[in-house]
Amino acid sequence: MAGATGRLGRAIVEAATAQGYVVRALGRSAESLSALGAAERRAVDLLSAPSSEVEAAVDGVDAVVSSVGASIVPDLRRGRAGFLDVDTPANRRLIDAAEAQRVRRFVYVAVGCHEELGHLNYVKAHERVVAQLRQSRIEASVLRATGFFSAFESVLDLARKGRVPLLGNPEAKTNPIADGDLARLCVAALADPPAERTVGGPEVLTRRRIAELAFEALGTTPRFVELPNWLVRVLGALTRPLSPRVADLTRFFLEVSSRDCLGELAGTQRLGEYFRALALAAAQRPAQLEY
Ligand SMILES: NC(=O)c1ccc[n+]([C@@H]2O[C@H](COP(=O)([O-])OP(=O)(O)OC[C@H]3O[C@@H](n4cnc5c(N)ncnc54)[C@H](OP(=O)(O)O)[C@@H]3O)[C@@H](O)[C@H]2O)c1
Repeated sequence: MAGATGRLGRAIVEAATAQGYVVRALGRSAESLSALGAAERRAVDLLSAPSSEVEAAVDGVDAVVSSVGASIVPDLRRGRAGFLDVDTPANRRLIDAAEAQRVRRFVYVAVGCHEELGHLNYVKAHERVVAQLRQSRIEASVLRATGFFSAFESVLDLARKGRVPLLGNPEAKTNPIADGDLARLCVAALADPPAERTVGGPEVLTRRRIAELAFEALGTTPRFVELPNWLVRVLGALTRPLSPRVADLTRFFLEVSSRDCLGELAGTQRLGEYFRALALAAAQRPAQLEY
C-alpha cells in the first residue's frame, strides 16, 4: 500500500488488513508509518529515493495499491509543488519499480469527472499516471473518485467560523464518498478483473446542501458567501508564483463545483452522519480535558 500515511491510505491499510491481506505500508515518514497496523513498513520518498530503494520497497509483493499524491489541503506547510510535479513522477517511479519486480496487480486512485476536467493540472497529473498504467505490463485497475468525506471537513470548519463560501454553481450535484467506503472498493479491486470505474457515495447532494449539512451538524443557522467566479479565478492565478499547488487546487475547486460531478453510487456512509460525528467529537473534547 503506497500513500499509506495519507487520509485514504490509512483507511486502505485498515480495510486490507481486515480482509486478511498481509499489508506492507509505504510512506515518507517512518514515524507516521509506525502508527499504522500494517504487517510491514517502508519509509521511502518516491521523488528522491534511488530506484534501487523504490524497487526494494515493492520487492516480493503481489499487488500495489497507490493513493500517493500531493496533499489537497491548501496549506503552504504541506508543500508548494504542483500536482504534475508530484503525483505524476512519484507514481511513475512506483509503476516502474513494480514492473521491474514483476508485481502482478496495481490499483490506482484518480479523480472523477476526468473527461470534463481533463484540462486542469490536478486531473491531468492523475490521468498521466493512468496512461502509463495502460501501457505497462501490469494488470491495472483505476478508481476515479468524487470528493472524499475527509476533503469536506474544511466545509465543517468554515461553518464553525460562521460562513461557508459557495463557489461555482451551488446547485451543481455530486455524490461524495466516505474514505472507508472507497478503501473497501480499492481492496475489492485487487480480486476483481482489471477495470476503470468512476465511483462516489450513495447519496447525491448539491454543493449548497453539503454546506447546509455542515451547519445542521453544528446546530447553527446556515450562512453563505457567494464568491464571483472571476474573483476566484484571479486569486488562483495570483497565487501561482508563490504556490503552484494552491493555484492548481483553486482552479480545480472552482471548476468541479461549477458542474455536476457524479460517480457510480457505491458505499453506505452518509455525509450528514459523518459531519455529526465530527461535530460531536469536537464538542466532547473540552469536557474530556477537565478530568
Ligand atoms: N481527497 C479527495 O477528495 C480526492 C478525490 C479524488 C481523488 N483524490 C486523490 O486520491 C489520492 C489520495 O488522497 P488523500 O486525500 O488520501 O491524500 P493525502 O492524505 O494527501 O495522502 C497522500 C499520500 O501520498 C504520500 N506522498 C506524497 N508525496 C510522496 C512522495 N514524494 N513519496 C512517497 N509518498 C508520498 C503522502 O505521504 P505523507 O504522509 O508523508 O505526506 C500520503 O501518504 C490523491 O492522489 C488525491 O489527489 C482525492
